[in-house]
Amino acid sequence: MKFFIDTANLDQIQEAQDMGILDGVTTNPSLMAKEGITGTDNIMAHYKKICEIVDGDVSAEVISTTYEEMIKEGEALADIHPQIVVKVPMIKDGVKAMKYFSDEGIKTNCTLVFSAGQALLAAKAGATYVSPFIGRLDDISSDGLRLIDEIRMIYDNYGYETEILAASIRNPMHIIDCAKIGADVITSPLASIEALLKHPLTDSGLAKFLEDHKKANA
Ligand code: G3P
Repeated sequence: MKFFIDTANLDQIQEAQDMGILDGVTTNPSLMAKEGITGTDNIMAHYKKICEIVDGDVSAEVISTTYEEMIKEGEALADIHPQIVVKVPMIKDGVKAMKYFSDEGIKTNCTLVFSAGQALLAAKAGATYVSPFIGRLDDISSDGLRLIDEIRMIYDNYGYETEILAASIRNPMHIIDCAKIGADVITSPLASIEALLKHPLTDSGLAKFLEDHKKANA
């Protein structure tokens, strides 16, 4: 399973990259705004900086909502760097745009996916990635992980190559459950990735090993 980090914060991206476990980055307009990145030129420059930190795919989201505008914006984003994946919302014009990008060999990430039907359409349109938002479904008392399971079954039934990119991860158990189900990718805040490291028996075990070594070598 690939690990992407879901942030536009360069320090956090660098930290995950330095751990050696990072396969890519996802961003969205809210995450860019959170970092104070505004204006087309600054936004484009920020995507380039992210691409220079990581080796893998970097999702850059369009803010257009019509087919023609999405094509123009998506092509400009794709021109920034070969690692850029154009992130497109699951709306009718977005489906059309993803088909266009797919035919042009431009990678896409279909975002704001909340149902199996939407995921099926994304695969039909040739999306490289589909992003079901599991945390936001959990937030409204729906079952985000069940959606990952349904999409996995549908894609396996027909051999769709679209990768399931589980998004809106809220905690380390989401990551573990996605791995059990067979999601291709998770995109997560750094905190949930780092939480996978933690176990009290690791900490107490290490403290005891170091203490015994110190005593024996005093
Ligand atoms: O980037 C898309 C998704 O991961 C957003 O997550 O936490 O805003 O629901 P969240």
